[in-house]
Amino acid sequence: MSRALAKCFRSPSVLLVTSIILLSFTIHWILIKQPLRCSHFQIKYAKPLATLVDNEEKVTEIFNAITRTVPSVYFTNISTTTSAKNSRGIILDLKKQYCVGDSLTVQVTMFDYVGKRKTYGGDFLRARIFSPKVEAGASGRIDDLNNGLYNVHFALFWEGNVKISILLMHPSEGVAALWRARNSGYKNIIFYGQYEYRSKKVQSECGFELDSDEAKCEYGAKEDKDFFYCIKPDNVSCESLISVTSKERSHTYLNTLEKTLFLRSNIGVEIPQTTESVDVMSCNRNSEVKPKCSTGMFQPFPSGYFLNNVWYPVFCNLSTYDPQSHISNCLSGKKIYIMGDSTLLQWTHYIASIMNSLKFFDLHASGSFNTLLLLDTDKNVYIHWKKHGHPLLIAYAFTVKDYSTVNQEIDRLEGGPQTVFVFSLGHHFRPFPITLFINRLLNTRKAIERLFLRSPDTKVIIRTENTREQSVAMDRFSDFYGYIQYQLTKDIFQGLNVGIIDAWDMSIASGAFELHPSASTVKNQINMFLKYIC
Ligand SMILES: *[C@@H]1O[C@H](CO)[C@@H](O)[C@H](O)[C@H]1NC(C)=O
Ligand SMILES: *[C@@H]1O[C@H](CO)[C@@H](O)[C@H](O)[C@H]1NC(C)=O
Ligand SMILES: *[C@@H]1O[C@H](CO)[C@@H](O)[C@H](O)[C@H]1NC(C)=O
Repeated sequence: MSRALAKCFRSPSVLLVTSIILLSFTIHWILIKQPLRCSHFQIKYAKPLATLVDNEEKVTEIFNAITRTVPSVYFTNISTTTSAKNSRGIILDLKKQYCVGDSLTVQVTMFDYVGKRKTYGGDFLRARIFSPKVEAGASGRIDDLNNGLYNVHFALFWEGNVKISILLMHPSEGVAALWRARNSGYKNIIFYGQYEYRSKKVQSECGFELDSDEAKCEYGAKEDKDFFYCIKPDNVSCESLISVTSKERSHTYLNTLEKTLFLRSNIGVEIPQTTESVDVMSCNRNSEVKPKCSTGMFQPFPSGYFLNNVWYPVFCNLSTYDPQSHISNCLSGKKIYIMGDSTLLQWTHYIASIMNSLKFFDLHASGSFNTLLLLDTDKNVYIHWKKHGHPLLIAYAFTVKDYSTVNQEIDRLEGGPQTVFVFSLGHHFRPFPITLFINRLLNTRKAIERLFLRSPDTKVIIRTENTREQSVAMDRFSDFYGYIQYQLTKDIFQGLNVGIIDAWDMSIASGAFELHPSASTVKNQINMFLKYIC
């Protein structure tokens, strides 16, 4: 890594004040001999999280810390909000020639629709460099200077003509509106529970919070403070809940003026730049030797880049061979539990497609989003996919008879060197107050800590969520919500010996706007997964 690039990674922008986190930073610092500290989420806790015992206190502390990073701005006229078209990006210290390994900073100055310079930050941006000819791309790290200026840092990882793209996803006024909307309540989505009792079938409303005086059934674990409720149907026992469905409610927490910020034409608008691309030479600099990818490594942002559609992590060496040609050996004798949403279902099908000896075992399940079992009885490979717990946004009835959350499932694991647990939590949480998500992550972290105490050689892999379509209802599914969740995921699991697969970074780098990444991106995620577990 060049000095310039290393400097980017040394930027002191992250101040995670948990002592555990600081400790882990120090460990990795020594391990990889490079202080990799590039992230643009400046969540600063007022009290060190480690000093808070109670989950509720931690949830509040984390919620408040994020709220402090979100602008508290109000507007009465759309013309005073940030306009991408009126804003400008300019390369700082523009050079005649760039070498692979150099860094490059674009400074963005924000203006509103009447051409007035913005004086505060909080805009939600998305930045990447890319070279279509060599199928290359990498994310940019955004530094909000909180005065209407942003420094967007890029590292030049490959040679050739490199284009720069910086999108205004939402103006800061939109970010403020979304944050308030998200945390206003649970009304975005309605759930229905189906009960079957003595040949009687009844349906009733369910949710995390029910606005009703009727008797309720409570589902969930007290020690986790994680509950789901249904209105109790008359003469039917609570244990008779069979399945659940959900749908969007025609309801919004945004007001009429705010809604205009989320018209499709105002989302993901390119910010014009004085220089749209630069030419990068190889300059034959020696690249540093990187350690083999393994769990427990600290990942900077960007954590890697695509070249010829292959993902190269910057903090470890993945590129020695094609890991997927060794998948049979790698998975032989392993028990793999995969728990998450449809993005990990994609993984399961992908693995089945590249390892022909794996067969789906028919579990005779009814309903949608069912548990899957993949077996290779010769090589003793067991792969089990299961949906994560509520919330699940699925219009077709899915069974809750085998219901569990990720943390409950981890607590049931015996673990051991042959056991791998992979999970992903994200998209389905977006339409709900963030406290639900924070609480689930904290419970999951505790369960992983317990697992590592009894069985430290179990492999735990976390796939972060990724970006999605720009055509979705932003008050429920905005990538801004996903971005906060992504950062929280990296933050809360810091310091544990887990492997992170940064699907967010990959989706930005590849310029993807889809909930389900392309086969080529999934292939790269599986590459990393295999590297972590074999
Ligand atoms: C909003 O601001 C613009 C430009 O200053 C002005 O022309 C327009 O009348 C304002 N709209 C309202 C509703 O105040
Ligand atoms: C429930 O049972 C009671 C007593 O057997 C009966 O009076 C009532 O009508 C029942 N309610 C329903 C909704 O079936
Ligand atoms: C990655 O590992 C291979 C084989 O061990 C080695 O030849 C290569 O130089 C390494 N690359 C980096 C960037 O460390």
